[in-house]
Amino acid sequence: MDRKTVQDRFGIIGESPGIHHVIDRVRQVARTDISVLIEGESGVGKELIAQAIHELSLRRHKALKVINTGAIPEGLIESELFGAEKGAYTGATERRRGLFEEADGGTIFLDEIGEMPQPTQVRLLRVLESGTFNRVGSTTIQRTDARVVAATNKNLGSEVTDGRFREDLYYRLSTVIIHIPPLRERKEDIRPIFDAFLYSSSQKYQSPRRVLSAAAYELLESYSWPGNVRELRNVADQVVVLHRGADVDADDIRPFLRGITANRPSTSIMRVNGETPTGSESSPELKVIYRALLEIRQDIQDLRKDVGQVFREHLPGSKPGPQYAEEVQVQRPALPMLPEPKTEKNLDGVAYEVEEEPEDEPLPTIEEAERKLIMKAMEKFGGNRKESAKALGISYRTLYRKLKELDEDPG
Ligand SMILES: Nc1ncnc2c1ncn2[C@@H]1O[C@H](COP(=O)(O)OP(=O)(O)OP(=O)(O)O)[C@@H](O)[C@H]1O
Ligand SMILES: [Mg+2]
Repeated sequence: MDRKTVQDRFGIIGESPGIHHVIDRVRQVARTDISVLIEGESGVGKELIAQAIHELSLRRHKALKVINTGAIPEGLIESELFGAEKGAYTGATERRRGLFEEADGGTIFLDEIGEMPQPTQVRLLRVLESGTFNRVGSTTIQRTDARVVAATNKNLGSEVTDGRFREDLYYRLSTVIIHIPPLRERKEDIRPIFDAFLYSSSQKYQSPRRVLSAAAYELLESYSWPGNVRELRNVADQVVVLHRGADVDADDIRPFLRGITANRPSTSIMRVNGETPTGSESSPELKVIYRALLEIRQDIQDLRKDVGQVFREHLPGSKPGPQYAEEVQVQRPALPMLPEPKTEKNLDGVAYEVEEEPEDEPLPTIEEAERKLIMKAMEKFGGNRKESAKALGISYRTLYRKLKELDEDPG
């Protein structure tokens, strides 16, 4: 498959030498069983490339299993990867298959491998060298034919120098390194990727086409993009959702870029709580806040739907319909009452459900609102992070990171 076909098939945009090199490497190694290490900053497309490697390999009809080493509590990583015998640890009520077993014949993607605890590194090295492992709590040797693709946003070489990552494992993993350069080192890719995101986002929100001025593109190209392609997508979304009118100039985009202020520090986002913002009602800062609030509302609505779903699935004998309503009433005292949904229209005139807010209550900061929402979800799902993340519409890892940031014990 030629380079262009690969890019089209996986939606990998970019004509920079850096991206071409990445794609060529993918094409060279995909059909082999060699382990691959993908290096690159956050949001550069490591997972996208890992998927392409699997899909282009002869293993594509078998599973691609993804594990984020950084998001899983240390004590659970080994049983996730290698499985566990019944009784191997507290709560192991039955024998569990691990990802190496499930990815047999397929591929296992070890994301954030730099976070892997040392004892697990030893076990991983053994699988890579001999294809064998033991379930946690078992002496029986198991075999697996799983191809390993790992990713890191750290410099693994310096992790080795600093003694945090095993040198032997590093050499075993780094036979083939695919380095994805950050966006700031391939500025020529910014414009085509942004245009593609702008287009798909306009389709998604059924919003009119936007045309950027030369100055707007210059601003995008001069920005450092710490969050790389993910951040670029986010900015394109914001332009589509928040900017009215077809023409987009640099000043319309500047407020959406992290760390670049619109030359008006007095209207910073952090001042919303308690103080009256000094910008006009349609100031870009306010728009960003409105959007964040809209997203939080959406999250709450999703959460409400999911809670309903949980009732339907877990109440004994419960079914949708009148009977379901009765059962919900029986269960409700444990949960705060959620008001009936009301609808409003968004900027493009599309109706969506909204929650009624008490009018004279001060707005919480985004952080407070987020903390509340997260804690509420965790409470509803009995501390189950997977369910909570699903209900909040964020990834497991994002939830894990946010819990850490909020100083809540994610473990
Ligand atoms: N070259 C590209 N063309 C189009 N979309 C891209 C490209 N690179 C990345 N993306 C998109 O950007 C987003 C982030 O990519 P991805 O999740 O693969 O990054 P990552 O390096 O794994 O990030 P993290 O380090 O945070 O895990 C995804 O939506 C992905 O589809
Ligand atoms: Mg990733």
